[in-house]
Amino acid sequence: MTRNFLFLLGSSRGDGNTELLARRAAEQLPPGTTRRWLSLAEHPLPDFEDLRHDSDHVRPSEGPAALLLDATLAATDLIIASPLYWYSVSAHTKRYLDHWSGWLRTPGADFRRTMAGRTLWGVTALAHAEEEVAEPLVGTLNHTAAYMGMRFGGVLLGNGSRPGDILADSAAMARAKAFFAQEPPLARFPYED
Ligand SMILES: Cc1cc2nc3c(=O)[nH]c(=O)nc-3n(C[C@H](O)[C@H](O)[C@H](O)COP(=O)(O)O)c2cc1C
Repeated sequence: MTRNFLFLLGSSRGDGNTELLARRAAEQLPPGTTRRWLSLAEHPLPDFEDLRHDSDHVRPSEGPAALLLDATLAATDLIIASPLYWYSVSAHTKRYLDHWSGWLRTPGADFRRTMAGRTLWGVTALAHAEEEVAEPLVGTLNHTAAYMGMRFGGVLLGNGSRPGDILADSAAMARAKAFFAQEPPLARFPYED
């Protein structure tokens, strides 16, 4: 199966450290791999409204929700490239993930069955020197993948505050080169280990 990598950029600024790190990792993808880059800030989703128990969700036919749903369903590999904001994913990213709760109940989308077995990856820049402070973000993405029956490739972390700082994190740049070479396992909740 041809692999389609969808990079979802979750920063609230353009050309930031997270995107630089993700682009460095993407350079290593084999030729012929499809890559698509979408900025969640440039395709703003409305705030998620929880209609799960009130009415049927209607499949969006236009606008950012339709674009992002269709792009997500077409991706074999979904890369959440979100900076660390308050120890977790950015608000743009969180709003996108909240919309999954609607898409799970959208007739015709078959969202869970389509996403099961596909791979979720994370790429994150953070200003803090100690990477373990990103554990809430890593847990969010791992547990999301486990809930969806997806594989989880882990989170590529790099250090930086101002745009471009991350290029000086040579360990992160080296990790980026090997990041997508892994064969990720199915994600598991911690209590399943
Ligand atoms: C709203 C906001 C919250 C942030 N929260 C954290 C944080 O919790 N921990 C941290 O290490 N850095 C934090 N930062 C710093 C960013 O993670 C850092 O500047 C990163 O390089 C931004 O990525 P970007 O360049 O891709 O936008 C925060 C920055 C912003 C704007």
